[in-house]
Amino acid sequence: MPDDPDELFLSWLSEAIALEVVEPLAATLATVDAAGVPDASTLILKDVDERGWAFAGPRSSRKAAQLAAHPVAAMNFWWQPIVRAVRVRGRVVEASADESAADLAARSAAAREGIASGEWVLWRIIPSRVEFWQGETDRRHSRIVYEPGPTGWTRTVSGRAADELTESGRL
Ligand SMILES: Cc1cc2nc3c(=O)[nH]c(=O)nc-3n(C[C@H](O)[C@H](O)[C@H](O)COP(=O)(O)O)c2cc1C
Repeated sequence: MPDDPDELFLSWLSEAIALEVVEPLAATLATVDAAGVPDASTLILKDVDERGWAFAGPRSSRKAAQLAAHPVAAMNFWWQPIVRAVRVRGRVVEASADESAADLAARSAAAREGIASGEWVLWRIIPSRVEFWQGETDRRHSRIVYEPGPTGWTRTVSGRAADELTESGRL
């Protein structure tokens, strides 16, 4: 179990791809509008690195207005065939105009159609909490929660994964 949630996410993503989860990068993004009312939409995770978890969409979208009003979001992946979920939340920052333009340029010609330059935005969630959830057949589900600590990420393990770590003397 790595010290860094990005590393665990990338390893779970590789497993989801290997096990042929359909659209493993599709996630539900929760945002909050100016009146404080939550909303949710489906989108594609573009990248994960030390700058955050990247996603993109049109500036004219409701999510863009919501992010302008409240630059915070939560993202949830549900990989049903392997009974795993990943949940991220944090503040949201808009990437540079160059990065947004590069993301738009990387899309297919059909996907770019009708989108003016400057209309496409790349954002990143800077995670303040990342939760990995593994469903177990006996319902003793495993949960691994990463939160920022004074010297890096803290990791809290519960459920079956914690039992296994305790049994093997690693917790
Ligand atoms: C599988 C899937 C992937 C999608 N990917 C994106 C995406 O990456 N960016 C995006 O803006 N909308 C994406 N959409 C469409 C959004 O869910 C949404 O309908 C649209 O962006 C309008 O959102 P709004 O309510 O923010 O205006 C996707 C929808 C599905 C079902």
